[in-house]
Amino acid sequence: MDTIEQIRIIPMERRHVPHLARLEKLCFAEPWSEKALEEELDNPQAVFLAAESLHGEVLGYAGMHDILGEGYIDNIAVFPQARGSGIGSALVKALCSYGADKGLAFITLEVRPSNVPALALYQKFGFQEKGRRRNFYRRPAEDALILTKHFPGNNRPAGEERKRDG
Ligand SMILES: CC(C)(COP(=O)(O)OP(=O)(O)OC[C@H]1O[C@@H](n2cnc3c(N)ncnc32)[C@H](O)[C@@H]1OP(=O)(O)O)[C@@H](O)C(=O)NCCC(=O)NCCS
Repeated sequence: MDTIEQIRIIPMERRHVPHLARLEKLCFAEPWSEKALEEELDNPQAVFLAAESLHGEVLGYAGMHDILGEGYIDNIAVFPQARGSGIGSALVKALCSYGADKGLAFITLEVRPSNVPALALYQKFGFQEKGRRRNFYRRPAEDALILTKHFPGNNRPAGEERKRDG
C-alpha cells in the first residue's frame, strides 16, 4: 500500500467509475451503480472526488452535492486494504476545504450510529451530531445520525438545513 504522502485527491473521472461502483458494492447494502456515479460527472452540483495512488490505483472516493451553498455528503468509502492510513481523512479534508473556499453555510451527512470508524472520522473534522432520522437505513434497519459542520464567517443562521425526504 502507498503511504498517505503518495496519494492524490482529484475530481472523479470516467475512468474511476467502474472501480468506485465495485467499492460501493463492497461497502453498502444499497450501492450506487456505475450509471448513477457516471451521471454525477455531468452534474454541476456534484463535488465527487477520487483518491488514487501515484500509479493510478483507485483507493477511495467521496461524493457531495453543493446545493445552493449547502453541502450534502452522499458517501465516503475507502477500499478495505487501504483503510487506516489517512485516505478517509484526506477526502473529508478536501470536502471541508471546498466548503471553506466556496463559502458553504455547512456540510451535513447521515451516518449509522454503529459505524464507529466513520463517526470518528467525521468528529475529527468538527462534524457535530444535530439530530436523528428514525429507521433511515435498511439491511440492516437502523436510525441515522445527522452530523453537520458549520463554516464560521457565513451569516446563514445555524439549524437551517434543507429538509430532506430521504
Ligand atoms: C469510514 C472510512 C471511509 C474511513 O476511511 P480511512 O481511510 O480508514 O480513514 P482514516 O485512516 O483517515 O482514519 C480517520 C479517522 O477515523 C478513525 N478510525 C479509522 N479507522 C477506525 C477504526 N477501525 N475504529 C475506530 N476509529 C477508526 C480514527 O479516528 C482516524 O483518525 P486518526 O487516525 O487521526 O486517529 C472507511 O472505514 C470506510 O470506507 N468504511 C466503509 C464505508 C463507510 O462506512 N463509509 C461511511 C459512510 S457514512
